[in-house]
Amino acid sequence: MPEMQVNPWEVKGDIDYDKLVQEFGVQKISPNLIEKLSKKNKLHPLLKRNFYFAHRDLDLILQDAEKKKPFYLYTGRAPSGAMHLGHLFSFMMTKWLQESFNVNAYIQIPDEEKFLAKKELSLEEIDKWSEDNILEIIALGFNPDKTFVFQDREFAGKMFEPAVKIAKKITFSTAKAVFGFNNETNIGWIFYPAMQNVPCFFEKNRCLIPCALDQDPYWRIQRDIAESFGYYKTATILSKFFPPLTGVKGKMSSSEQGESILLTDSEEAVKNKINKYAFSGGQATSEEQKQKGANLEVDVSFQWLNMFFEEDDKKIKEIGEAYSSGAMLTGEIKQILIKKINAFLSKHQLAKRKAKKQLNEFKYSGKLAKKMWKTEIMK
Ligand code: TYM
Repeated sequence: MPEMQVNPWEVKGDIDYDKLVQEFGVQKISPNLIEKLSKKNKLHPLLKRNFYFAHRDLDLILQDAEKKKPFYLYTGRAPSGAMHLGHLFSFMMTKWLQESFNVNAYIQIPDEEKFLAKKELSLEEIDKWSEDNILEIIALGFNPDKTFVFQDREFAGKMFEPAVKIAKKITFSTAKAVFGFNNETNIGWIFYPAMQNVPCFFEKNRCLIPCALDQDPYWRIQRDIAESFGYYKTATILSKFFPPLTGVKGKMSSSEQGESILLTDSEEAVKNKINKYAFSGGQATSEEQKQKGANLEVDVSFQWLNMFFEEDDKKIKEIGEAYSSGAMLTGEIKQILIKKINAFLSKHQLAKRKAKKQLNEFKYSGKLAKKMWKTEIMK
């Protein structure tokens, strides 16, 4: 296995979350914070099952909320292809937080990021994926009056001045240390982190960002400079990586098609991928499985059910017991997972088709969108 490496453009090796918490200097989400969140709304499975597991300043966000002081949410997706299941989780978390606290959410679609960071992608291809990806996101049911979805190349006129102010405070040596840039990195890419930091300054209120740990380097920079502009350091709520079918210690990635389930996959594709690729903690033969049972820790089907797809605590416990004792076979747990994912995707794909008519509202005509097209940011 290569050495663990986690940054916005590369996640490699066996991921050790305790080590990352230490290295990044983030906090684990305490039972006390979970309890506070559960008072606002039925706890989301991603929180209940510890997939969202770390944070910065979530305690301060909840203190603000207790004092009825507003905060806002910010997250994003760099369009470069079809989205996989893992990509959807940060948006689910954002939607749940918006619903729980009735706050604004800003969704950035940086349609320059992957153009700059990936040699083979053209802007035309990216534009095709932008619309597709936005539909995947708004299909989750965000509040159209309190959500603004913006594409960088279109909204750049508004973002450029704040980006310039931010960029001036980030030295190349910091950017190299935080992002691993080197002499071969093109200068557009080096400027990009300023663009991803701008939405942390969209409101004077505290900002809370739901995302996976790979995006943390951006927020470290924002936290270094925020107060010099008279703004809050951004808060984050951070998730683990949804693992690929091939093993629980990696990160699902859309460049490895067989290893990930795409939101556009058909029922047949889901079935074939899981049957073929889902790494099994079960034994080699059914006889042996009946005697020894499965190792749940490494079994991708069990872990996926546990992380998200089997919300019912009693059922997941029963599945775990049956499978680890040998009463359930690998083929059977895979069937359960296939059914769950296909039920989820068919509902999601229908919502995505319906979301088309809402596109305009989220980008231009909704209450928050309208306001943002008129606002002077960081003024
Ligand atoms: P992108 O498009 O690579 O990923 C979108 C979001 O999905 C998260 N993510 C995952 N979460 C769980 N499991 C996985 N296997 C997995 N893979 C990716 C990412 O952490 C991200 O939250 N630069 C960003 C786009 C962006 C953004 C933001 C993200 C712009 N502004 C603000 C978060 C917050 C990017 O390339 O994400």
